Amino acid sequence: MTENKIVLSGMRPTGKLHLGNFHGALKNWVELQNKYPCFFFVADLHSLTTAYEHTEDLAANSEAMLIDWLTAGLDPEKSTIFIQSDVPEVSELNTLLGMITPLGWLLRNPTYKEQIQELLKQKYAGQLDEKSLGEKLASIAGDEDISSFGFLGYPVLMATDILIQNASYVPVGEDQTAHVEIARDLCRRFTEVYGEEVFIEPRPLFTKVARLPGLDGRKMSKSYNNSIFLGEELESVRKKVMAMFTDPNKKGAHDPANPDGCVVYAFHKVYNPNYEKRCAECKAGALGCVACKKELFALMEPELKEFAQRRNEFAQDKARLNAIVSRGKERARANAAQTLARVKKVMKITK
Ligand code: TRP
Repeated sequence: MTENKIVLSGMRPTGKLHLGNFHGALKNWVELQNKYPCFFFVADLHSLTTAYEHTEDLAANSEAMLIDWLTAGLDPEKSTIFIQSDVPEVSELNTLLGMITPLGWLLRNPTYKEQIQELLKQKYAGQLDEKSLGEKLASIAGDEDISSFGFLGYPVLMATDILIQNASYVPVGEDQTAHVEIARDLCRRFTEVYGEEVFIEPRPLFTKVARLPGLDGRKMSKSYNNSIFLGEELESVRKKVMAMFTDPNKKGAHDPANPDGCVVYAFHKVYNPNYEKRCAECKAGALGCVACKKELFALMEPELKEFAQRRNEFAQDKARLNAIVSRGKERARANAAQTLARVKKVMKITK
């Protein structure tokens, strides 16, 4: 451990994770474990901010994500891995921080506006044109049932997650910047209002990560049906790789081709340290797509095998999984309880 500043991050349990999630975020988390004390949690309460009507899969999704994290190499010996709702102190501090959060901060939050727009589009798919959608968006404080108190409060809950564990660094994607900013603002506001510094001001940690496209060249996403999943069977991955989209203008194996826009090449960029050489070979028509795909799969294989091995170890062993989350819960609660006790003292709720 080279630093004792705390790193914390979370993900909403949306279901199975894919290689895009691994290369885009999880791999970075796995590396951070060796440098910092880390807290990683399943943000199940955050899922409720939009999917409050669909709680039937919540617990199963949380467990599936946990298994994916362990598959990816998060190590419960190194990191505190827990489930957000297992730490009731979070909900208590969330209430208190909600009291000092100006409504304007939340209403102005660009992520809130974008998400509302997205939800409106889903709700009125094919029924409303852009203009009417815009009007609905403008009157969102009205009676739309997609905009709940909890949804507006998303950033307060996220700030709570961060501040309650005294995290200094929050590894997140650029899309979360505005949220982390609110956590920083709330940290300062608490000091202003109560005259005492209780929280550590967190900073987002933007690490350069690899972007792995989906099998069809679009963003890898479960809803596009273009994903390779963490812990997917080797044979199934091989088939997907062999069926990947390549330059359609290349007819014969030794025709020159354009690697830009080729999914196989985009994967080589992530898995092949000599991808520049491959680029030149492709342009010169030095090898066919089948050979190029076979080579890619060979490059992916060690990582896939590592995943499969860890997955076998954890997924079969319910007792071990339970032990991991209950230990995570204990540690996260102990740390959170200390912060909460200080907050309540400073707020003069307790003596
Ligand atoms: N909002 C984050 C996301 O959607 C998930 C999250 C919840 C989170 N609480 C957090 C991330 C605290 C970092 C820190 O990706």
